[in-house]
Amino acid sequence: MHAVDFIEKKRDGGEHGADELRAWVRAYVAGEIPDYQMAAWLMAVYFRGMTPRETAELTLAMAHSGEVLDLSSLGRKTVDKHSSGGVGDKTTLVVAPILAAAGLVVAKMSGRGLAHTGGTIDKLESIPGWRAELSDEEFLRQAREVGLVIAGQSKNLAPADGKMYALRDVTGTVPSIPLIASSIMSKKLAAGAQIVTLDVKVGRGAFMKSVGEARELARLMVEIGRHAGRDVRAVLSQMDQPLGRAVGNAIEVREAIATLRGEGPDDLTELSLALAREALEAAGEDPARAEEAWRSGAALAKLRAFVAAQGGDARVVDESERLELAPGVFELKAEADGVVAELDAYKVGLAALRLGGGRERKGDAIDHGVGVRLEKKIGEPVAAGEVLARLYHRDGRGLEEARALMGSAYRIGRAAEPPPLVLETVA
Ligand code: URA
Repeated sequence: MHAVDFIEKKRDGGEHGADELRAWVRAYVAGEIPDYQMAAWLMAVYFRGMTPRETAELTLAMAHSGEVLDLSSLGRKTVDKHSSGGVGDKTTLVVAPILAAAGLVVAKMSGRGLAHTGGTIDKLESIPGWRAELSDEEFLRQAREVGLVIAGQSKNLAPADGKMYALRDVTGTVPSIPLIASSIMSKKLAAGAQIVTLDVKVGRGAFMKSVGEARELARLMVEIGRHAGRDVRAVLSQMDQPLGRAVGNAIEVREAIATLRGEGPDDLTELSLALAREALEAAGEDPARAEEAWRSGAALAKLRAFVAAQGGDARVVDESERLELAPGVFELKAEADGVVAELDAYKVGLAALRLGGGRERKGDAIDHGVGVRLEKKIGEPVAAGEVLARLYHRDGRGLEEARALMGSAYRIGRAAEPPPLVLETVA
């Protein structure tokens, strides 16, 4: 394989064949292609795009870059849920326990934060002791015994995505429909679940800025899944403003736990239940079981069992103050009376990143305790001097920039309605 020829082909708008894509992915995982060449190719894909056929072949090559789990031995319906990335998006932490409590097996791989968006694994790692690296045996045993397992990407599942994801995060090559579709679907195919429910985010804080783009991504992923014999459905959901009121890591886990208790924000509750209903319907089960599992406390109990099974301190589920928040608190106050007319999710995500909640460079350590609590969201009235948001910071790190971002994320107007949350379903 001549790496330069391969890169130039995409740079000049060519279409790759299945064999060369497989060889490219294999060589990258084997360390024969350096990051700078992969980064150049990713940038070429960003500008030139890929055909649906190329995207499907890239996805298969990435899915088969490591092991592909066979969950059929579990003898139960297996489901995976994935988000295309958003700000304050902790729905996995709510949906997964609901589905497991409703009788499905949730066995999934999740990613870390990407660009300005958070990642489920980073969030879960704010739970003392919780570990994301599981052997295949541990993964399967937990799926069987607990019905809920979430592993990070250091497993030997879709290792190509693990490496490419980290590289895209720091080379400006995340918001590309074929790259997102292949990244998400390669993990889904490798992790083996039969039913896949996708939450495709649309809006300022999402990688897809318009409903048209989000629909294209959703259709592509549904098609790739169908091609591979999986039952994939996608929900398009709004990401102009963050989901819920918490943005960060520990602070988001706290909010997810509150939501499972019935004390969470309405938007997070509504979206989580909508996604859970979709997954149950795809599994041929009564979608009303989602609400039963949530209201009865069975989902909360499932979360406890899941945290403990992966070595975490399950006391956090009942005493969420054990999820430490950074000690510094800055209150952002409104300058005028009015109603919150805009709350830019992208800027809020970036503010949390600058405070240390995300990565600026590949491999950076993150601070699980920092983040943002949105006291006011779109459509809510506010008086001059009232707190709009609280910024949790450590020794002022990144605070100045985060303050400026948060100040410009809010626009106070005369009247506004919260944007609709669930936009459409693609199946
Ligand atoms: N989530 C993923 O898993 N991959 C992407 O590329 C974007 C969001």
